[in-house]
Amino acid sequence: MHQKSERRIFPFTKLKVNHFLLKADMFTCLSWYNRKTKASKERETCEQYLPLILEDFTQKIKTAALEHKKTTSFKLYEHFHARIKTADSMAEKCQRKNLPLTAESALKQIRDAIGIRIITGFVDDIYQIIDFIRQMPGIHIFKEKDYINQVKPNGYRSYHLILEVETPYPDCYGKTPGKYFIEVQLRTIAMDSWASLEHQIKNPERIERELKRCADELASCDLTMQTIRNLIQESNERED
Ligand code: GTP
Ligand code: MG
Repeated sequence: MHQKSERRIFPFTKLKVNHFLLKADMFTCLSWYNRKTKASKERETCEQYLPLILEDFTQKIKTAALEHKKTTSFKLYEHFHARIKTADSMAEKCQRKNLPLTAESALKQIRDAIGIRIITGFVDDIYQIIDFIRQMPGIHIFKEKDYINQVKPNGYRSYHLILEVETPYPDCYGKTPGKYFIEVQLRTIAMDSWASLEHQIKNPERIERELKRCADELASCDLTMQTIRNLIQESNERED
């Protein structure tokens, strides 16, 4: 979600409408795969499952959030953005990584064809969501990067997961049940504002000290916000 060409992040509520767009992209993608590979029937069709897999996963997150709200009266997250990577963006990434333009490269070597970014109000919510994801059946955490505890030198904070999900659909090898990857990025509102600001700056190196200071100040605000929420939670519990 870093590159400019990857900017088409669809709010999930619009996903149905965007099926048309996705289909248009898929056709490009399919002809692209067919030209470059002697694709099997499964390879030709597996992209159509991506929006379904994304929809299923976002539904699970929404359900977890509803349960959490019932038991704690707090929101688990503020909002999220979900997107299927466009065919053009996928082709560009394959080329950048010197991978052949095949379905295997797009869906197995590159693991962010399906992406979701979850924005929370508080840092603790990020870890709570990760705990929920760990307990979801059929979902395995393939890779994780904690850029919150291991902050990137530029100040970037976020928690990244690559999930491997078992689905009822065939994968690009024609295997059913097929496994697909989903990239999940989790950040607070403050971390997200910083990341989108940094992403817009053409030469972030020129103002790296200012950006780093800003990231650290926002992290300190996140800490204060978390402390305040913990105090509210404690006093609510005492009253019950
Ligand atoms: P690829 O996405 O395949 O290149 O893998 P990677 O190993 O670089 O993955 P990583 O988890 O570090 O980053 C994945 C995504 O996180 C990027 O595409 C960005 O959307 C976001 N990201 C990572 N680092 C930064 C950063 O320094 N600034 C901003 N704004 N976004 C970042
Ligand atoms: Mg990416």
